Amino acid sequence: MTPDRIIRTFVDFYRERGHLPLPESSLVRPPDDPVLFTTSGMHPLTPYLEGRPHPLGRRLANVQRCLRTTDLDEVGDRTHLTVFQMLGSWSLGDYDPPQSLRWGYQLLREGFGIAPDRLYATVFGGDEQVGPDLPALETWRDLGVPVELTQRENWWSNGPTGPCGPDSEIYVWTGDSPPSGTPGTDGRWLEVWNHVQMRYHRHDDGRLEPLRRPNVDTGMGLERLEMVLRGHGSVFEGDAFAPWVRAVTALWHPDESSLRRVCDHLRSSVVVVGDGVRPANTGRGYVLRRLLRRTLTILWRGDPTRTLSDLPDEPFADTLDRFRQTANVTGVRLLLQDEEERFRGLLRRGRRVISRYRSRAPLTGADYRYLHDTHGLPRDLVDGLLAEAT
Ligand code: SER
Repeated sequence: MTPDRIIRTFVDFYRERGHLPLPESSLVRPPDDPVLFTTSGMHPLTPYLEGRPHPLGRRLANVQRCLRTTDLDEVGDRTHLTVFQMLGSWSLGDYDPPQSLRWGYQLLREGFGIAPDRLYATVFGGDEQVGPDLPALETWRDLGVPVELTQRENWWSNGPTGPCGPDSEIYVWTGDSPPSGTPGTDGRWLEVWNHVQMRYHRHDDGRLEPLRRPNVDTGMGLERLEMVLRGHGSVFEGDAFAPWVRAVTALWHPDESSLRRVCDHLRSSVVVVGDGVRPANTGRGYVLRRLLRRTLTILWRGDPTRTLSDLPDEPFADTLDRFRQTANVTGVRLLLQDEEERFRGLLRRGRRVISRYRSRAPLTGADYRYLHDTHGLPRDLVDGLLAEAT
């Protein structure tokens, strides 16, 4: 199944069950949102999960581009990505969580053809504030899906305050041998789909207040689903990464983990720029800058003479197209190339300056401040140059 077909299958399944397609949001959140980027499909729906009536009704579904900087250090393994696509469905105070689980099971089995013995579910086992999720437990038992109970892993929130609640996660077996263990004991069980009961609002003081209308919010990573459906060893074997892997490998020959990080960061940068973000020293622009600098640091270790301008148009165009973005390929490329030039210049100057500091390590807070304010060298770059020099 190609990613396009997966998206169509998902959206059609929910449309047949009365869910209207929810228009996708930009990765860039409006100024009144404390979060820089859209981190999940539910994020733009927060006011509606808190009780405001949604103009499209109570059943919604979509695919939403998301960005998670929290996963940045895990990128390079089999499954973590900075920017990814999330398939989502919502009941805004409409049907109950067991219904959502039953539909989820049906879609995975009949729509995507996953064998029943490759499925495992986890369910909230209860804590001092909220009891165990018995309806979910019963539903999975009825469906014949094995269940593991947990506490913290089965509680979802989008931050310290706001809508939250217990969740039930669906895992798919990705090992070569027959399934064994549980999601908690064997890493070959891969989490693909989370069904969250948005039933509470958490206040500043930690208090949980039941929402007037309980909701269901589900989210499933497109790239992970493609990986399990096609039997790939990692998300980077998927269609959306093929043009990046081809182009980067031909030019720089990085090792597997570096290749994954570079492909993730370049693809993410294109999507972020496609949504109008420009490199900067703060906020969203700084996330973009870091992604590019991490990429270039890896690539130049392989071959410092090559530049991003040596990449073909194909991966840029393919990514913008897959993320339904209308930005112009040449414009995006020029922006990344400008940033690359800027970084080269900064490194050239930085190496000269840092050579004078080598004997003074470890640097003090005042040194870092001076290097930043006078020479424009951020702390992580200074540390990198010092490490390079020793
Ligand atoms: N909000 C949940 C998640 O991001 C389900 O959509 O996993």
